[in-house]
Amino acid sequence: MTERVSKIAIIGAGAVGATVAYASMIRGVAKKLAIYDVNRAKVDAEVLDLNHGLQFVPMATLEGSDDIGVCAGADVIVITAGAKQKPGQTRMELAEANVALCRSLVPQLLKVAPDALLLVVTNPVDVLTYVVQKLSGLPTRRVLGSGTVLDSSRFRFLLARHLNVAVQNVHAFIAGEHGDSELPLWSVASVGGVPLMQWAVPGRARLTDEDRRHIFDNVRNAAYHVIQGKGATNYAIGLATAQILEALLHDEQRVLPVSSRLEGYLGIQDVCMSVPSIVNRGGVEAVLELPLNEAEREGLKHSADTIRKAIRTLGF
Ligand code: 2OP
Repeated sequence: MTERVSKIAIIGAGAVGATVAYASMIRGVAKKLAIYDVNRAKVDAEVLDLNHGLQFVPMATLEGSDDIGVCAGADVIVITAGAKQKPGQTRMELAEANVALCRSLVPQLLKVAPDALLLVVTNPVDVLTYVVQKLSGLPTRRVLGSGTVLDSSRFRFLLARHLNVAVQNVHAFIAGEHGDSELPLWSVASVGGVPLMQWAVPGRARLTDEDRRHIFDNVRNAAYHVIQGKGATNYAIGLATAQILEALLHDEQRVLPVSSRLEGYLGIQDVCMSVPSIVNRGGVEAVLELPLNEAEREGLKHSADTIRKAIRTLGF
């Protein structure tokens, strides 16, 4: 019996879409990759360039088109298309334009790949995850957003560098909106099993209140800095998305702070945002109820209110 071949379809051949394809290819996430973009010349060029590197990565096939049919039979569809932030612009300012895009895209996707999981990367990702779930009518677990997987990775990188430990040994989450109202969950962060707030290794840096403020400011403003310098962010989001795809397609049961619809999480209702969640082949299997302190609970509620307000303004 031949094993069913897994397929990823990526919507958008811009910097993020192409880098998601590149990272997924290198990691051997799926045997088939497809990229859809309305700009035929751009999608053809990106796919050609990626195909020229196939010899160096795990076996896969890659095709691109300006016909949505290229997404047919996908197991996961990654939505990266849309207006992107200009220097100084917030993610929320993209909402109206990118909701319009989702309105036209979602029905087409459901037609060609009715069984796919939908992974939203386009910003504002929490608002659009909610909108895509509503428009698609799919079970909430099957629609998720990349959320704060990227912000958490930025957070872990900065903590690891400050404490001089390997980033893999830092367990720490940014939760809430992938945007300005996000928050660090300090009380449940740990390094090698030591609660971060108790970290005190002789001869090594401590983490003062000032350090914590500085690190979180850097996380929250990271995208603004990168966009200022190079016009877009693509590498880290490409890798973060490839890891989410792996968790989905390889049924990893991995804990990731993806964005999904919350119904009654610490009293939070009817909004999509990130909290640590178990991700597997079915999508978002469960959200983890963490032993947070009062300030963190309040911070999550505030972030939820910010996102919900934007969703309502858009008529959802
Ligand atoms: C990022 O955080 C812009 O949302 C994108 O890199």
